[in-house]
Amino acid sequence: MRIGWIGLGHMGKPMAKNLIEAGYDVKVWNRTVSVAKESGLPYTEDLKQLVEESDVIITMLFHSQSVEEIYTKIVQLGVPLQGKTFIDMTTVHPNTAKKIAELVIKHGADFLEAPVLGSVIPATQGKLTILVSGEESKFKELEDIFKVLGEKIFFMGDYSRASTMKLINNTVLGSFMAVLSEAFAFGKKAGLDDALVLDVLSHGAGKSGVLEAKKEKLLKEDYSTHFSVALIHKDICYALDIAKDLDYPCVITTQTLSLYTSAKANDLEDKDFSAVLEIYKKLANINKEE
Ligand SMILES: NC(=O)c1ccc[n+]([C@@H]2O[C@H](COP(=O)([O-])OP(=O)(O)OC[C@H]3O[C@@H](n4cnc5c(N)ncnc54)[C@H](OP(=O)(O)O)[C@@H]3O)[C@@H](O)[C@H]2O)c1
Repeated sequence: MRIGWIGLGHMGKPMAKNLIEAGYDVKVWNRTVSVAKESGLPYTEDLKQLVEESDVIITMLFHSQSVEEIYTKIVQLGVPLQGKTFIDMTTVHPNTAKKIAELVIKHGADFLEAPVLGSVIPATQGKLTILVSGEESKFKELEDIFKVLGEKIFFMGDYSRASTMKLINNTVLGSFMAVLSEAFAFGKKAGLDDALVLDVLSHGAGKSGVLEAKKEKLLKEDYSTHFSVALIHKDICYALDIAKDLDYPCVITTQTLSLYTSAKANDLEDKDFSAVLEIYKKLANINKEE
């Protein structure tokens, strides 16, 4: 089985690498060619060649717009798509997932929607959680690919369900990161020892995968990017959009969005989303030394 991989960002690159290491015949393509060149992975600059020469094409892009752009380009290439399967692992708006599924199926190919939970470290270790929507028989046929990338795989049913669940998960992620930052900054303001605050929280009410993953980042104010402010902002916007359509009151997530909007407005867009701590520090006038 030949796999074409599109998108070599923080997540795409380690995921494609894992497939190669598992023995799959993979070729990659990235919009910015230098990123593909520097990845050390077998790449092509020619999207048409990638699609022509692959049985399964996996996309891991930024947002709905980038996914819609790439799939529109792909169907315009004039390559026969019958017999191919496309898998989109980007976190997109559920309406995008449906739209792309319809587009791909209309051109005779199969489609699976497969957003992931977990960040760069689980992606590198092949330990992501993967949510899959589409035809169950196609999912079963390609399950081994998902098993290389993730350790927990959920089949979610029809198109858009996986994306909806992914966004619901990220309302928790974004709000939890925010409340952990709020508590940490509270401790700073009260003159408590930073490391001690995090240690107590990680044995108390803050005990969680999020705190474990972000503890060092908060302590060292190291906002090197695993999951960017721009991405959590995008996910929360999509989640609130679905909530609006459902007349569902996302009370906490609505507040959370304001924090990440402030982070974007304060030039933290490309930083790790743990940089939301900086917003609390600003609000409470906390300096580094405090
Ligand atoms: N990072 C995480 O922890 C994490 C965890 C779970 C899920 N996710 C989701 O996974 C997806 C990828 O995340 P990431 O962190 O890898 O993002 P990223 O580092 O920002 O990478 C985005 C990728 O999309 C490409 N891209 C963006 N716009 C494009 C366009 N218009 N046309 C073609 N390619 C385009 C970029 O190419 P260039 O190199 O040319 O810019 C890059 O390869 C996102 O949907 C994110 O929400 C991320």
